[in-house]
Amino acid sequence: TRVGVLISGTGTNLQALMEQAKKPSSAAEIVVVISNRPGVLGLKRASMAGIQTRVVDHKLYGSRSEFDSTIDRVLEEFGVEVVCLAGFMRILTGTFVKKWNGKLLNIHPSLLPSFKGVNAQKQALQAGVRVAGCTVHFVAEEVDAGAIIVQEAVPVLMNDTEDSLSERIREAEHQAFPAALELVAGGAVRLAEDGRIIWNSMM
Ligand code: GRF
Repeated sequence: TRVGVLISGTGTNLQALMEQAKKPSSAAEIVVVISNRPGVLGLKRASMAGIQTRVVDHKLYGSRSEFDSTIDRVLEEFGVEVVCLAGFMRILTGTFVKKWNGKLLNIHPSLLPSFKGVNAQKQALQAGVRVAGCTVHFVAEEVDAGAIIVQEAVPVLMNDTEDSLSERIREAEHQAFPAALELVAGGAVRLAEDGRIIWNSMM
């Protein structure tokens, strides 16, 4: 399965996805990495792995829909079948999300539906939860609300700060995202028309 990865920054999730896709057993082949910001470390990671990169700078577009349709054109140019949002910090329009429904994955640093939105790790700390984690889900039009594919839990320690908890969650992300990509790329999991997750029990 041809995979496109959208990034905005350091790309540690991208790194984990690239390492997974390199395995001979993987059903995924990452064919393009697109960043909405130029010069970020994630672009260097992709280039070092020999993967084609493109920058679609959102500041150069008059509207969200023009930005999204440019992203879409690049994905089509590379024959992408599944898209991973790996630390991609833009909200995509409904038109884009509808077109890629069931093919668009995102990672969020909380156990959804808890702690949607920004600073999820900080929200968890402030809520005093003893267990936190990350969620890989299909992207739906409502932000952070799509069908859940994989979750991974981590403990919250008594002396945790936002940074120490975020670091522990990010380690979990690097396990969860590759696992979720493999499930979708390999056909073990898909999204039903009504938005439910379907596990292909024959796998
Ligand atoms: C991660 O914390 C992820 O949960 C959030 O953005 C961050 C991406 O980090 N969506 P990286 O760019 O993959 O290192």
